[in-house]
Amino acid sequence: MSLDPIYKTDALIASDIDAYLEQHQHKSLLRFITCGSVDDGKSTLIGRLLYDSKMIFEDQLAALEADSKRVGTQGQEIDFALLVDGLAAEREQGITIDVAYRFFATEKRKFIVADTPGHEQYTRNMITGASTADLAIILIDARKGILTQTRRHSYLTKLIGVRNIVLAINKMDLIGYDLAKYETILADYKIFAASIGITDFTAMPISGFKGDNITTLSANMPWYFGKPLIEHLETVEVNATADQAKPFRLPVQWVNRPNLDFRGFSGQIASGLIHIGDAVRVLPSGKTSTLAKIVTMDGELQTAVAGQSVTLCLAHEVDCSRGDVISIADNPPEVCDRFEANLVWMADDPMIVGRAYWLKLGTQLVSAIVQPPKYQINVNTMEHLAAKTLELNAIGVVELATDKPIVFEAYADNRTLGGFILIDKITNSTVAAGMLNFSLRRAQNVHWQAMDISREAHANLKNQKAAVLWFTGLSGAGKSTIANLVEKKLHRMNRHTFLLDGDNVRHGLNKDLGFTEADRIENIRRVGEVAKLMADAGLIVITAFISPFRAERKMVREMMPVGEYIEVHIDTPLADAEKRDVKGLYKKARAGQLKNFTGIDSPYEAPLTPEIRIDTTGMTAEAAADIIVEKLLG
Ligand code: ADX
Repeated sequence: MSLDPIYKTDALIASDIDAYLEQHQHKSLLRFITCGSVDDGKSTLIGRLLYDSKMIFEDQLAALEADSKRVGTQGQEIDFALLVDGLAAEREQGITIDVAYRFFATEKRKFIVADTPGHEQYTRNMITGASTADLAIILIDARKGILTQTRRHSYLTKLIGVRNIVLAINKMDLIGYDLAKYETILADYKIFAASIGITDFTAMPISGFKGDNITTLSANMPWYFGKPLIEHLETVEVNATADQAKPFRLPVQWVNRPNLDFRGFSGQIASGLIHIGDAVRVLPSGKTSTLAKIVTMDGELQTAVAGQSVTLCLAHEVDCSRGDVISIADNPPEVCDRFEANLVWMADDPMIVGRAYWLKLGTQLVSAIVQPPKYQINVNTMEHLAAKTLELNAIGVVELATDKPIVFEAYADNRTLGGFILIDKITNSTVAAGMLNFSLRRAQNVHWQAMDISREAHANLKNQKAAVLWFTGLSGAGKSTIANLVEKKLHRMNRHTFLLDGDNVRHGLNKDLGFTEADRIENIRRVGEVAKLMADAGLIVITAFISPFRAERKMVREMMPVGEYIEVHIDTPLADAEKRDVKGLYKKARAGQLKNFTGIDSPYEAPLTPEIRIDTTGMTAEAAADIIVEKLLG
């Protein structure tokens, strides 16, 4: 690429802004990430790219679009050194910025570069930046060769599945443009890359500072026969044809039904191609039909391919909604609810084994529980380490169980159907990025057994409606006492009940559990499942567990049919519970002889909107029990 065409482009901006914008709109877009640190010359390189491409920023274009008569606003002449200083300073101050995205364009292509800090404590930022990138530039300081961070960046790039890797051996000017040194670094990198499964990358010797091999081939390195960096970025394949060769998949984003005569399923084709008349299958239901029509913004098509946004009309009325996947009939993706995945933990709070998080995979949203990690990966050495949880920036391999089957493919085969995020159900923040590896066979072989006697039939025979009265409150609040009275009253009224009590369950079913956060979560999960089975059997279940966390109470609530879970907060002030101290446990906890005691050194998250709240300060246990029975049956 020479500089001339850019000036021609500038001339076009000046003379015919509409024509320029039209041309600009149809340029392809390459998203890439730069991996390295300021020391490797990252800011200098980004500055160089912006500078040499004349910095045609998107916001400038927006301004041009807004006022198409204002001509001649081509890239400003900015001093290169000043630009780089600015970028570096911004980077240093912007530590809190997740990822800085910068836009620029050349005559051939538009670019979005994700600029993330290179240190290990910013692994999550790099993962965010890399997750949408088509290409990664891994920067090496030619004087230093391969460093720990080169290995880490390469591993993360491979993990996230960035298709194109450029190994930019930078600062060649500082080693006298020495071919032998360049070749040594390259040979070292090849060996390392192969060890982590990177078989293909493009190496180039550059100097971001001097501009060698950036826009034009450098006269200082006549031994280099590749392309200059910008030309490589301009010509590298974006919508890899590889995606089109894969089996057809369309994750349905929405159902398009403007009138009774038209029903189409819209979304972006994740892989493959499809023709009118092809047999298709809707997942997870597995129903089949034939493709009748392909509708797009630009009219109807006979064939559609990966990357296109389309609306598909099927020949039959099959059920299909947002989150479903339409695939080619004879080669569908898997449907499963147990997986192994790689997980990158991105939240300040560590992963909580057993807690339910939202799992969002494309357009599918399900609830998922993570199992203890099989191992954590040391991102600097790629060693496998034992781990009980994953903390911020940690990467590990875990098993996940979802509450509903999802349609998926291994991330290595399909980023759209294999990549997911985990979301905290209370704060709604993204806590992890994940890549599905494979489904667990055992889940596929354990099928739900359809039963002829329904849960309603069980309850009807007992002349009652099933319910779960879920008591929650501090230790010593009076849960067991009141729950006991409630059961006695119901029993006298010929109701079929069963009381599950914390202290008792912990002697049997849950005797393997203690009082750490993870154990309490597992305690409540198991009790929730048991309560659900008992409610399925038609019983009125009463549970008395501290159940200190909102997230798990919510999880249990969501396991039951709406209205069947009734939360009863036995609201006793900590001071009162501690004063009574029936079991002498508060005294022990205060003396430091009992760790993780609720209310002392382990939190209790009071319900915000319980169905029933019992204020025990002004009421006897008898009166409280009457109120609860009245609410349940009334
Ligand atoms: S929960 O937090 O997992 O719901 P659960 O209700 O099963 O707790 O058990 C609470 C009972 O265990 C308390 O009433 C108390 O008798 C006993 N216990 C022993 N150690 C602790 C502790 N560290 N924190 C709270 N309760 C404890």
